[in-house]
Amino acid sequence: GAPVTADVSKLEPGQRMTVEWRGRPVWVVRRTPDMMERTENLDPSRLADPDSDEPQQPSYVTGPLRSIKPEIGVLIGICTHLGCSPLFRPEPNAEGVGTDDWPGGFFCPCHGSRFDLAGRVFRNVPAPTNLEVPPYRFESDSVIVVG
Ligand code: FES
Repeated sequence: GAPVTADVSKLEPGQRMTVEWRGRPVWVVRRTPDMMERTENLDPSRLADPDSDEPQQPSYVTGPLRSIKPEIGVLIGICTHLGCSPLFRPEPNAEGVGTDDWPGGFFCPCHGSRFDLAGRVFRNVPAPTNLEVPPYRFESDSVIVVG
């Protein structure tokens, strides 16, 4: 499939947009400083797949935020358990997701898998791996090319 572009110039801090790439939804999230801090400060022992690498993410995204720019997250919006579409629940301890210092992220309504704002999967949920980070690059400050 051809690469697709995402213009993030109008994406407000805390918001998410979706573009389609190869028939799959790609989420682009502009993380706030608070969202980045909550993600980076998460205790890695709570994560089921803390050291994911290729093919789950390109080699050029590293660290807890799994992204090229810290504030811009790019993820395939498909649960790594059985392929449902997780819900965007960016607030800490969002209703129905958890009150256990859950830092905000994505919640899969099918079987309850939980992912942080970098798509990292928590322990004790059915999804085995982090959400996938697709190959992408910045064509300019505000335009991302996925694929
Ligand atoms: Fe997401 Fe099962 S498909 S938890």
